Amino acid sequence: MKPKVLVTRMIPRAGIELLDTYCEVEINNEDRSLSRVELLEKVRNKAGVIGVMADRIDGEFFDAAPQLRGYANYAVGYDNIDVPEATKRRIPVSNTPDVLTGATAELAWALLFAVARRVVELDAVMRSGQWSGWGPLQFLGADVCGNTLGIVGAGRIGTAMALMSKGFRMPVIYSNSSGRRNEVLEKELGASLVSFGELSERSDYVSLHAPLTPQSRHLFNTTTFARMKKTAILINTGRGPLIKEDDLVQALENGQISGAGLDVYEFEPRMAEGLAVLPNTVLLPHVGSATEKTRTNMATLAARNLLAMLRDERPGTCLNPEVFEQG
Ligand code: GLV
Repeated sequence: MKPKVLVTRMIPRAGIELLDTYCEVEINNEDRSLSRVELLEKVRNKAGVIGVMADRIDGEFFDAAPQLRGYANYAVGYDNIDVPEATKRRIPVSNTPDVLTGATAELAWALLFAVARRVVELDAVMRSGQWSGWGPLQFLGADVCGNTLGIVGAGRIGTAMALMSKGFRMPVIYSNSSGRRNEVLEKELGASLVSFGELSERSDYVSLHAPLTPQSRHLFNTTTFARMKKTAILINTGRGPLIKEDDLVQALENGQISGAGLDVYEFEPRMAEGLAVLPNTVLLPHVGSATEKTRTNMATLAARNLLAMLRDERPGTCLNPEVFEQG
């Protein structure tokens, strides 16, 4: 008999086709996440699940899924998963790193340029027919070339984003919660590891790529904004709660920093009141990995991971490999 699996949100076809050969697949075909009640009901008889960020994978979830042999996250970030709890129960869990690194780093650059050169605001000027002709003092933005780029969290995506700065000759500084040096960035860009405080003070552009943990939640708050340059631009393609969003609105309103480009929000899908009316923000609906190729690669990686787990094998990108070492 084929194992029963649940896919909590429709993913690209290539992933479903891989699963179909070996599994009986139930897919949530509605264009919305499952409610908690629906999720817990649907996992009751499942051996495997592919889920998304909105699905909380914790003790209650595992209790509701007594037959579960593996969970594959359709995302690289895994703050939605209680990994120690999964490990305690000897249930392997996986995520989708690497395949989305380039797309997410590119989106950080799209936001950086859009904020620096006021692309969205000025696009609206054109569309509304308000432009009255060229003027020397009109619509001035900020330079990118030569300005300092600060990377908070120089992991895969932070490193890729920083490497893309090469053509813009930006001094690069980075901070890592682990304090670990990034040899690639140091060798390729002459980047230096600095404290988070120093990074906040020195950067013209700050790009966030740190994972969301209890320590990194609200890293950017009123105190941090007070240390930043008034001309600084903050870019977040990581996780929304890295920023205390109400504090960010205040910092932008008071001119403590100059602008922000956000792809993620503290309480998705909502965003703080005030962000939308500020002209110096560019706001995207969590689309860091949203290219055709990347989302397809995420689907096949998640499906391969799940199939491996159903064979009791270690998946390619396992978050708790110790499950397979416990004998
Ligand atoms: C998206 O935010 C991801 O973590 O893949």
